[in-house]
Amino acid sequence: MLAVHLVSFFFSKLQEDPTKKVDRFLHAMRLHDDQLTDISMRFLAEIKKGLSTESHAAATVKMLPTHVRSTPDGTEKGQFIALDLGGSKFKVLQVKVREDKGLRKGGVEMEEKIYPIPNELQDGRGAELFDHVSESLKDFLQEKNISLEEKHPLAFTFSFPCEQLSLDKGLLLRWSKNYKARGLQGKNVVQVLREAIDRTGGMDIEVLAMVNDTVATMMTCGFDDKYCNVGLIIGTGTNACYMEQMRHVDLVEGDEGRMCVNTEWGAFGDDGALNDFITEFDRDVDAASMNPGKQIFEKMVSGMYLGELVRLVVLKMAKRGLLFDGFVSDALRTKGKITTAHVAAMEEYRNGLKNTRDILVQLDLAPSPDDCVAVQHVSTIVSFRSSNLVAAGLAAILTRIKQNRNLRALRITVGVDGTVYKTHPQYPKRLHKVVRRLLPESQVRFALSDSGSSKGAALVTAVAQRLASQRRKVDETLSLFKLSPEHLQLVKDSMRAGLEAGLRRTGPFTIKMLPSYVCHTPDGQEYGKYLALDLGGTNFRALLVRFKKQRTRLYHKIYPIPLEIMQGTGEELFDHLAECVCDFLDYMGMKNARLPTGFTFSFPCEQTAIDTGNLVSWTKGFKATDCEGHDVVNMLREAIKRRNDFDLDIVALVNDTVGTMMSCAYEDPKCEIGLIAGTGSNLCYMEDLKNIEKIEQKTMTEKKKETFKGEEDEQGGMKAEKTEGDAEMAKMCINTEWGGLGDDGSLRDIITPFDIEVDQQSVNPGKQRLEKMTSGMYLGEVVRQVLLDLTRRGLLFRGHVTETLKTPGIFETKYLSQIESDNLALLQVRCILQKLGLDSNCDDSIIVKEVCGAVSRRAAQLCGAGLAAVVDKIRENRRLDHLSITVGVDGALYKLHPHFSHVLQETVRVMAPQCEVVFLPSEEGSGKGAALIAAVARNKQNM
Ligand code: BG6
Ligand code: BG6
Ligand code: GLC
Ligand code: GLC
Repeated sequence: MLAVHLVSFFFSKLQEDPTKKVDRFLHAMRLHDDQLTDISMRFLAEIKKGLSTESHAAATVKMLPTHVRSTPDGTEKGQFIALDLGGSKFKVLQVKVREDKGLRKGGVEMEEKIYPIPNELQDGRGAELFDHVSESLKDFLQEKNISLEEKHPLAFTFSFPCEQLSLDKGLLLRWSKNYKARGLQGKNVVQVLREAIDRTGGMDIEVLAMVNDTVATMMTCGFDDKYCNVGLIIGTGTNACYMEQMRHVDLVEGDEGRMCVNTEWGAFGDDGALNDFITEFDRDVDAASMNPGKQIFEKMVSGMYLGELVRLVVLKMAKRGLLFDGFVSDALRTKGKITTAHVAAMEEYRNGLKNTRDILVQLDLAPSPDDCVAVQHVSTIVSFRSSNLVAAGLAAILTRIKQNRNLRALRITVGVDGTVYKTHPQYPKRLHKVVRRLLPESQVRFALSDSGSSKGAALVTAVAQRLASQRRKVDETLSLFKLSPEHLQLVKDSMRAGLEAGLRRTGPFTIKMLPSYVCHTPDGQEYGKYLALDLGGTNFRALLVRFKKQRTRLYHKIYPIPLEIMQGTGEELFDHLAECVCDFLDYMGMKNARLPTGFTFSFPCEQTAIDTGNLVSWTKGFKATDCEGHDVVNMLREAIKRRNDFDLDIVALVNDTVGTMMSCAYEDPKCEIGLIAGTGSNLCYMEDLKNIEKIEQKTMTEKKKETFKGEEDEQGGMKAEKTEGDAEMAKMCINTEWGGLGDDGSLRDIITPFDIEVDQQSVNPGKQRLEKMTSGMYLGEVVRQVLLDLTRRGLLFRGHVTETLKTPGIFETKYLSQIESDNLALLQVRCILQKLGLDSNCDDSIIVKEVCGAVSRRAAQLCGAGLAAVVDKIRENRRLDHLSITVGVDGALYKLHPHFSHVLQETVRVMAPQCEVVFLPSEEGSGKGAALIAAVARNKQNM
């Protein structure tokens, strides 16, 4: 019997377990992980909605760009006055950030004073609120003996949603929390503050930056921990910010780097997105708030509302007879009687129940021990829901960052502030645990911002100051590469003068204007099998070209030329070429064919016939001895003879520009210019024979005869007249070797100290000055010189001049092309820099890309101006008002660089408006052109 009684006693006791009835009553507030994941997913969708231009206007979570582009890197310095408005306390501070000293080393000193803000100012006139702010500021300066005469930069933490147009311009979208001052919505708050400071008078304050408290918190914590990329506030209000990729921030122009986005997540749910999680208590809290219908998520989470939620639950339970035997006191009916501080006290480890009892007694209630347990449990459920919701929001942000970085696991730090997080005994632990449960694969650290947001605000201001001054210095450097229209005209004029002087060969001339002995572009009648050799670009190539009724077949093999061969003896170089040719013939099974051969030799050669030419001087890093002044065809023949295992019939020596022109002219008869923008830079074009003075009269006469031989035989009757008329029209392709422009100093106005450095360190100082500003072999070096300079001046790579950076040649043209092609948040740029052993941050990557852009743009413009001179000359030669012409182009810079071709074309269009220039990229390299020339030359031999 007793046993039965005992069982029913325990049973009834169990049934009466006060927490159970609370659990039942607040069932809707207890969120499970799958519900949290669901909320997290909804928030992730809100993030996208807020960021995109199309959906931003309708989005509730505003995702506001903050114009803060980097987290601290320890180089911040300066003294700042700071204002901190919008949390539970309004503070004025002085913050001193000492150079090169992190927080841990005591690098930041702060003094602060809290000024109360009377309630009537929070919902009075906006101007009065700001007058109070500015008067408090002046009071602070006076009290701390801070000079009123000196100028003080000011950092302003303003913890409300603002649409920021820049760091020092932010329009208040709306008030939140307990503020509702009139006349400020839509206004630039920085301006409002400046005007108030002016009204107060007697201070010299420069408001440099305004930041949200979340941003300031992230920055404060980021000074200590470089992984801190998220800022979180769980205080009077709640909110979070994080570093987003610029390419996703539609509201701000530019795709590069990152920007901190203030989510304003408090507004999550304002459009009903959380309706299925909202309880009657949330609805009551909202209805009685200063901003009904707004900040729904905030009202479920933040300190301003937690106490109120607990009060409403307790009140309802009491009314239902579930607490205090159904007794309800007036105090319990009164809004604001339970605060977040009470909630925190009720949940204290040891004294929680006692505190709960004290609080309830203060509310004129007479709680039983079970009532205390129940009310404490209400408090736990309400605050637990808050931390759960924050965890869900945070999980969404961290997932977003993980997706942005394309990572499976994330290592990140969240900087946190706010009274709830700081004073509630269980909150941080619960939050951390749930976040880690929702994101098991990520390593999330929480860093408490121990001294408020003003350090962070000062750091933003310091960064703003530093960036502005760095920007100025970087811009000044890059401006050296900017070419004005006058500069470009000067280049065009000087190119034109150079072309004429080279043709006349009078006086000193820098542009060699070498006759190529190619007088026709192809006519499509070429046929047969030819060998083409191609030396002077990135690689040596051997090709077999077969022309057959407009069909061309090409077989080729590439052979790298080792540096020691490029810079050894001439004999070694040509022996190496012969060796490669032998290998190719073996490979093709044509060792005994004695094929007619066209030899593309991409260096300046003084030709006296189509198949002879003395090398004038090496260019592009070649410097094999005993070649200059010698006939390179002979040298190749000799090398082949030395081997004595195969033979070639070398019928044409061809510059790569000429080969390219011929190759393209095979497709388009209007192609009368060949341009190379590759390892080197050069151009050839069809010049009127009569203008080429260096072709002796005798040769010219012979040429005329040769040119018109065919017609003479067939149409003898018209001979005299036709020869005369056509001689007028006769042309020869001239290899300009325009890379030599400027060797006489004519480009001095645009040459930068970096060009001088590159020239001095080259194998041919003083030579090929234009080439050194325009071609792949040198652009990387110019970039490296600029980076070296910026680093030495502390504007890049945190001033670390590494061995890598000091290594000539590390920046290959392909890297320039890749760096400039990268718009994927600079990930590739960083990857390339990393591969080169350069430890870069996001700002470094932006600068490196800008340097590459400035250098390559100038290169394309210079080529454009040069080409404009050439097409205008051709037009004038032909006495035309309008010239329509095609340029055959080759070279890695033209083909692989993302912007070079476009800038080049645009420059020509602007600078030669009377010419319509079509660009035809050469498909098969200049080897095909060399074979075409060989075909014509062989035919002549055979005639
Ligand atoms: C403070 C920051 O530490 O935390 C404020 O300095 C911020 O900028 C505040 O608004 C948030 O917490 P609370 O609880 O004061 O609103
Ligand atoms: C190739 C030509 O296609 O382009 C070469 O066949 C030429 O003769 C070269 O020198 C230029 O490009 P790069 O970038 O290899 O110097
Ligand atoms: C409110 C504000 C927001 C602020 C947050 C925390 O949600 O709208 O800007 O960050 O409170 O103080
Ligand atoms: C260098 C050579 C020139 C060649 C050009 C492109 O400028 O001197 O002959 O055409 O490079 O390869």
